[in-house]
Amino acid sequence: MTTILHGNIIHTPSFGALETIPGGYLILEDGVIRGIWPDLPEEYAACPVTDYGDSLIMPSFADLHLHAPQYPMLGMGMDLPLLDWLDTYTFRTEARFEDEAFARRTYRRLARDLITSGTTRVAMFSSRHTDATWILMEELERAGVAGYVGKVNMNRSSGLSQETTEESISETLRWLEGCHFDLVKPILTPRFTPSCTNELMAELGRLAEERDLPVQSHLSENTGEMALVRQLHPDCAQYWETYRKYGLWKDRTLMAHCVYSDVREQEAMIESGVWAVHCAASNVNLCSGTAPVRELVNRGVQVALGSDIAGGDQLAMHKVIVMSIRASKIRQMETGASFLTVPEAYYLGSSAGHRYFGGGEGFASGQKLHAIVVDDGSLPEPVRELSLAERFERAVYLMGKEQIKAVYSEGINRL
Ligand code: GUN
Ligand code: FE
Repeated sequence: MTTILHGNIIHTPSFGALETIPGGYLILEDGVIRGIWPDLPEEYAACPVTDYGDSLIMPSFADLHLHAPQYPMLGMGMDLPLLDWLDTYTFRTEARFEDEAFARRTYRRLARDLITSGTTRVAMFSSRHTDATWILMEELERAGVAGYVGKVNMNRSSGLSQETTEESISETLRWLEGCHFDLVKPILTPRFTPSCTNELMAELGRLAEERDLPVQSHLSENTGEMALVRQLHPDCAQYWETYRKYGLWKDRTLMAHCVYSDVREQEAMIESGVWAVHCAASNVNLCSGTAPVRELVNRGVQVALGSDIAGGDQLAMHKVIVMSIRASKIRQMETGASFLTVPEAYYLGSSAGHRYFGGGEGFASGQKLHAIVVDDGSLPEPVRELSLAERFERAVYLMGKEQIKAVYSEGINRL
C-alpha cells in the first residue's frame, strides 16, 4: 500500500546536519520510506495524499533509558543523591508492581503518554516482577511503541525490591519464555553492579552469550556509586571492568549516564561497541554531575539520549533534548567544551536511538517511518516570517502534546 505525506519535512540525516524540504512529499510503501520529493512524482499523481498543510514532519523520538515502574513517582523526591534516593523512594515504589492491576493501569497510561509525546522507540527498565514486565510489554505493543524492555535483576542491597539469586535467575528464564511480542523484545537488565552479586552477573553474562541477548545497565553516574563499586570489586581498576568481567560489556550494550567516564572508560566503550545513554535531566535532578557529552561524541562513542524517568522528571523527549543542550552549556561554562546545537541534540534524541535499533538516520529510505507531525501554528505569533530551521528550533523548545498532530511508529499513525 502506498502512503503519501505532504508537509514541511525537516530531518537530521547525520549528526549536526539539518535538511528542510518545504512543502515536500514523503512516500511510503507498506510503511517503509521510499524517499522524499520536493514535488509529487508523476507516477504517484493518482494516489491519495495525507495533507498536513503547513505543519512540520520531523523524526520521532527514541528514549534509550527510562524506568517504567518509576512513573508513579514522576516529579517527586529528587532531593537526595543517587544511592539514598534509591533506598528512600525508588525501591519501595517499584515494589508496588507486585500488584498486576496497578501495573496494568500505570503501564497503559505510560505507553499512551509515550505515543502522545512522540516517543516511538524505547529501551526500558521494568521492575523485578516477571508478570508486570509482560504487562508492560503488552501495553507498549498495544500503543505501538517499539524497542526493548528488561525485567530488572537485583539480588543485593535493593531493600523491598530485592530477589534471591535463585529467584532472579529462574524468573529471568520464565520471563524470556513468555516474550512473544512483535514490536517489543527482551533485553537483559542487571540493574547496576551494586545491586547484583558476582554469581548473578556471571549467570546473566552466560545467558547474554548463549541466547545472543542485548544488555542494559548503569555506569559511572555518581561519585558515591563509584566508590561503592570500587569497594565491591577491588580487583577492577574501573567501573566498566565489573561488567566486562562477567560478559556483560559487549556490542550494543547500553550504559546509562557515563557522567564520570574518563578517556580509558570511553575507549573501552568504542572498542566493544558499547553505547552511552546521556540522561541530562536526571543528572541535574540528582546532582550527579554534567556528563562529558561533547567529549564522548568527538571521541567516537555511540551516544543516544534517555529521559531516565523518574530520576528525570520529563517523559517528553523534546524537553530532554532541550535539557541536554542546557546541560552542555553549563559544561561549556565549566570546562570550555562546546555545547550541543539544536540539530545535534535532536539527532541524539531521535536518529541516534533509531539507529541503535537498526533504523536509519533522519528519514532514510528503506526504513519503517518513525515520525511526528507538529502544528506550530498555535505557538505565539512570531514577529516575522520564519525559516523552516527557525520553526524547527522553536518547536523543539516550545511544543507540547497539543502541537503533536500525528505520531508514526513502524510506518503507522498511532495517535
Ligand atoms: N542506578 C541504579 N538504579 C538506578 C535508577 O533507578 N535510576 C538511576 N538514575 N540510576 C540508577
Ligand atoms: Fe536509570
